[in-house]
Amino acid sequence: MTIEKNKDLDEYILNHIDEESELLKQLDRDAHVNLLRPRMISGHLQGRLLKMLCRLLQPRYILELGTYTAYATLCLAEGAPEDAEIHTVEVNDELEDFIMKYLHQTQLKDKIHLHIGDAMEIVPAIDCTFDLVYIDANKRVYVEYYNMIFDKVRSGGLIIADNTLWDGHVLENPKSGDKQTIGIQKFNDMVAGDNRVEKVIIPLRDGLTLIWKK
Ligand SMILES: C[S@@+](CC[C@H](N)C(=O)[O-])C[C@H]1O[C@@H](n2cnc3c(N)ncnc32)[C@H](O)[C@@H]1O
Repeated sequence: MTIEKNKDLDEYILNHIDEESELLKQLDRDAHVNLLRPRMISGHLQGRLLKMLCRLLQPRYILELGTYTAYATLCLAEGAPEDAEIHTVEVNDELEDFIMKYLHQTQLKDKIHLHIGDAMEIVPAIDCTFDLVYIDANKRVYVEYYNMIFDKVRSGGLIIADNTLWDGHVLENPKSGDKQTIGIQKFNDMVAGDNRVEKVIIPLRDGLTLIWKK
């Protein structure tokens, strides 16, 4: 398929799925003007999918590694039940004001617990068994994240990992300094060989792996 047709199809899809809320649209615009690397936001299509998964699974306890603007956090919160607890962890404390500016504009904030700090230090101290975990922080250490959270996910729980196709770089022989590609490749190989889980990679955006714990 030509690139042009792909773009047209992307637009067609966005015109035929649920809209983002005004708040998410505003957050996205604000991030594009004021933040570095706004492409990291999950975005309209993936955001609606995260909401839909929460609608279907009704997860009570959710963990997100890598909050950035809280775009995905808000999508998860939209679909999660009223009494859900969403723990989201962000290492960059400079993002806190941006995140809180948007959380304060919605009742959804009542479900959201923002933790500022390194996920590897914060998560072990959260006393929760999670129904859903969204891994979307440092690509270099996805394997470490997976090992850290695995026992904190209930049987029948879902782990979602973002960027698992890494712009197609997973197919390449990475240079030794390219720790992000190496990290994602190691993660994909490890999950593929893990018979404690069922897994599927969806070629959506930058690749989204759904991992169901048996
Ligand atoms: C791809 S962005 C997250 C995007 C967000 N989940 C979304 O879907 O809109 C990755 C974020 O992870 C954060 N991050 C990187 N390493 C981290 C760590 N060790 N602990 C917590 N957050 C981390 C980065 O600062 C960045 O804001």
